[in-house]
Amino acid sequence: MPNATEVLQADARGFDRAAAIWRDGGLVAFPTETVYGLGADARDDAAVARIFEAKGRPRFNPLIVHVESAARARDFAEWSDAAEIVASAFWPGPLTLVLPLREGAGLSPLVTAGLPTLAVRVPAHPVARALLTAFGGPVAAPSANPSGRISPTEAAHVMAGLAGRIAAVVDGGACPVGVESTILGLAGVPVLLRPGGVPVEALEAALGGPVARRDEADALSAPGQMGSHYAPGARVRLGAVERRPGEAMLGFGAVAGDLTLSETGDLVEAAANLFHHLHALDATGAVGIAVAPIPERGLGRAINDRLRRAAAPRA
Ligand code: TXA
Ligand code: MG
Repeated sequence: MPNATEVLQADARGFDRAAAIWRDGGLVAFPTETVYGLGADARDDAAVARIFEAKGRPRFNPLIVHVESAARARDFAEWSDAAEIVASAFWPGPLTLVLPLREGAGLSPLVTAGLPTLAVRVPAHPVARALLTAFGGPVAAPSANPSGRISPTEAAHVMAGLAGRIAAVVDGGACPVGVESTILGLAGVPVLLRPGGVPVEALEAALGGPVARRDEADALSAPGQMGSHYAPGARVRLGAVERRPGEAMLGFGAVAGDLTLSETGDLVEAAANLFHHLHALDATGAVGIAVAPIPERGLGRAINDRLRRAAAPRA
C-alpha cells in the first residue's frame, strides 16, 4: 500500500517539516514562481534516484539545482562575466543557467546525468526561498508531475499526479508565472536551451548581444527537451479558430474558448493560466483540445513550445 502524502502549510512548521524530510532523503514538492518542483537533497544519490522513480522518468535526464543565492550557485558551478550579468539582472527569478560543473562540488552525479555542466537557479517564490533557507543546502527539483504529463501549477495538481509516491507537498497556492524557467546555456556562447519565464529578448538586452537558438537537430545537448511532453490525455490541436465535434476549446484573445488563456491577449496572464486550463479541459473528458493561435513573441515563445510538445505524436 502506498504511503500517504502529507500536505504541509506554507508556515514555519511546514518549512521545518519539509527540511527534515529532505535531510532524511525524502521527496517534498514545493511551489516556485514557475511550476511546482519535486525536490530532494541534491547531494544524496538515493534521494535523487527517488525523484526519477516517483516521476516514472524513463531515463536519467539532468535536473535543475535550486539554491538560495548566486553566492551559493558559485559553490557548485564555474562562474563567468556573462553569468554575473544575467544573475544580477534576473535572479531570483524564472531563469536557469547551465554552467560548467565545479570540480568537487559534492553533488550527486545523477543530478547532472554525468554531464560536465550543471543547471542551477535561484527561485523567487517566497515559499521556495523559505524552504531553501530552512534546509540550508542545494535542492534538485524537476517539475512535480509524472513524466510526460502537464506540469503542476497548484498543490492539487501535484496530489493528482503523485499522491502516495512522495512524502509531502507544501501548499503555496497557484504559481504566478505558470511556465517553467528559461534555460540559458553559458558553458560556451550563450544559447537558449528552453524558452521560459524570462523572454529571450530580455536576456539579449542584458547581455548586449545575441543568444543562439538551439538547433532542433542538436537535441542531445538538452535531453528531455524534444518530442511529446506536457501531454494531457486528450489530443491537442494547435492554431484552431473554432472547435470540432467532441473537442474542448482553449481560447486566447479574440478567439473565445470553454476556457480562455487571456481575453485581452496578455501573454503573461496566458502563461500563468496555461497548465491550469489544460488540466481543467483534460478533466472534462473531451476527445481533443483545440487551442487558439498564440503569437510567437515574449512569453508566447514558451507557451507555444509547451503547446507544440503537448500536441506532438506520442511515442
Ligand atoms: O521552472 C523550472 O525550471 C522548474 C522548477 C521546478 O524549477 N523545473 C523544471 O525542471 O522545469 P525539469 O526537470 O522539468 O526541466 C529541466 C530541464 C530538463 O529537460 C533537462 O534536460 C535540462 O533542464 N537540463 C538540466 N541540466 C542540464 C544540463 N546540464 N545541460 C542541459 N540541459 C539540462
Ligand atoms: Mg518538466
